[in-house]
Amino acid sequence: MKEADKKEIESLRITLHNHDYQYYVQNSPSISDREYDALYQRLKELETKYPQWITEDSPTQRVGGKVEQRFRQITHPVPMLSLDNTYNVDEVRAFHQRIKKGLPDVEEDSIEYVVELKFDGLAVALTYEDGKLVRGATRGDGKQGEDITVNLKTIRSIPLEIPAHPFKKIEVRGEVYMPKKEFRRLNAIREEEGETPFANPRNAAAGALRVLDPAITSSRKLGIFIYTVGFLDNDNFQTHYELQKALASLRFPVNEHNRLCSNFEETLSIIEEWRNKKNDLDYEVDGLVIQLNSLAHRKMLGSTSKFPRWAVAYKYEAEQAETEILEIVCQVGRTGSITPVANLEPVFVSGSTVSRATLHNEDEIRRKDIRVGDRVVIEKAGEIIPKIVRVIDSGKKRQPPFKMPTVCPECKTEVFRPEGEAAWRCVNAACPAQLKERLKHFASRKAMDIDHLGPAVIEQLVESGRIKNFSDLYTLKQDEVARLERLAEKSAQNLIEAVEKSKTAGLARLLFGLGIRHVGQRAASILAQTFRSIKALRETPYEEMESVMEIGPVIAESLKSFFDQKTNLLDIEKLENMGISVEEQGDSPKEGALKGKQFVLTGTLSEFSRDEAREKIESLGGRVTSSVSKKTDYVVAGKDAGSKLEKAKKLEITVWDEKEFQKQIESA
Ligand code: IVH
Repeated sequence: MKEADKKEIESLRITLHNHDYQYYVQNSPSISDREYDALYQRLKELETKYPQWITEDSPTQRVGGKVEQRFRQITHPVPMLSLDNTYNVDEVRAFHQRIKKGLPDVEEDSIEYVVELKFDGLAVALTYEDGKLVRGATRGDGKQGEDITVNLKTIRSIPLEIPAHPFKKIEVRGEVYMPKKEFRRLNAIREEEGETPFANPRNAAAGALRVLDPAITSSRKLGIFIYTVGFLDNDNFQTHYELQKALASLRFPVNEHNRLCSNFEETLSIIEEWRNKKNDLDYEVDGLVIQLNSLAHRKMLGSTSKFPRWAVAYKYEAEQAETEILEIVCQVGRTGSITPVANLEPVFVSGSTVSRATLHNEDEIRRKDIRVGDRVVIEKAGEIIPKIVRVIDSGKKRQPPFKMPTVCPECKTEVFRPEGEAAWRCVNAACPAQLKERLKHFASRKAMDIDHLGPAVIEQLVESGRIKNFSDLYTLKQDEVARLERLAEKSAQNLIEAVEKSKTAGLARLLFGLGIRHVGQRAASILAQTFRSIKALRETPYEEMESVMEIGPVIAESLKSFFDQKTNLLDIEKLENMGISVEEQGDSPKEGALKGKQFVLTGTLSEFSRDEAREKIESLGGRVTSSVSKKTDYVVAGKDAGSKLEKAKKLEITVWDEKEFQKQIESA
């Protein structure tokens, strides 16, 4: 029954919104994930049947929507100011004095403050019209920001709709953050994949908000706290605290630790209270915001061009601690770079125990004159990697200055420091330390994706001398692997199967996996597409390589020196002989067969993942966007295609099913 289905869709939408709220805002889910998924699937199923009833605010529409080449600039109707900072209690007292002076007719007793945590993330503004989220923007420079609605919609604690009454139009403001747990998870993956980890959760959140693909934003579990409004069409509120309560009742995620203080001294005790307690939170807090509660008082004081006069931020300094340098060890990376690391007497700082700190390089050690046995001050703020600030002069006799090793700590080959670089390097391609790191990279998910080849297995295989290069991996036998420590029979079989499977990973993954300096995933993919085989790549003159789009002299130089090494060539030859694909499969594409054509992918394809389909189109010169418009040339519709397909039909855009898509790319 059509009517009954429509009712069910509406009721499922409400039910799912309620569960999102309980889970993501109140942190108290009332159903299991499995039950949630079942409801979600049911809604999806009905929406596929009736695409005309899909609404923008449906829980199924969080990921999707439009991403253009770049984000659109928007002007904030009300500027987003920032806050004046204070760093000690005296400065906070001075702020209170200024407030008193600015409100000469107000009794000190009736000056109330609200103290809030200052979240270390990114300020955003969310606009709701008639109860629907219509726009989300970054702060930018405070006057102009970027329209990142599609990405903000993926944050599950942001309501897509609110009761339209009593606010027909309201802009709320808050801070988007990445939970510490998510930050650690993300960085662990990045390191595993040989990518540079994010320096702190704030940068990671900023990155996630500025990607052009909302599916990526969605996969990074961002959170948000709403702390104020930009504008609203209802000015019955007397105080900030009251306004926040109203926002919370509209189901906005308002932080639970906001405190109303009936006098100034209370604000100071809250500063002390959170100095250490902030480290126990799962989000980064770099200070507190102290602000007047009365909105009338705020109006009287007004703002400067940059800051409101009625609020300040109190910033906690990075926490410091004293400890001792037990030893300085040198680690060898995948490319042979040697990084000195200090092992420290363990000390608790900023929420965790620190026992190591990177010393970066030789110059850094010399500049700070750091020596073994020294007492040092270390500093750490939240999730930021600890650093050594300075050596404490204890007046005692010190050890001699630290000297970088002249030979590799692992293989004893003489090290050298290339001109203009800060790092010393071990140039022995067979160095076991480098080999272990290289194998880890080779096996990582974005390279050859060899599951079960973890660090412990690699360690044993390299230490025993069994594996000396990549090709040796492909000679492993199941019974010898099963004999390794901590490896069950079943895992041995899985490992052998994974090694076998990796033979068909393809040229791009192989090139990335080889760990050639400066050849990241993207460069590897371009090289594979352009040169189609390792042989062709090796034989291409340097100048020609350099002229390939996005390759440039640094990568070309690095490729050249990689192929100049006999051991590398030998290993590649062996890989080839053992059946590892060193050539790009399929005919070479007619360059630009789909040049300038704009595609939208929708529904599920059986033979390709979305990424694969996109890669195919892009390799033929086409472009993939996420929403259907008049500019779209083709829509590729897989199974269960929904509203995009409808829209394509309405706009009379050519639609290809999967079979047609395959036919077209084959003939291209
Ligand atoms: S209130 C007039 N409250 O701090 C500005 N800001 O330095 C009113 N921030 O741009 C801002 N937590 O990104 C406010 N609880 C909080 C905050 C907060 C973090 C950020 C915000 C703002 C910056 C100001």
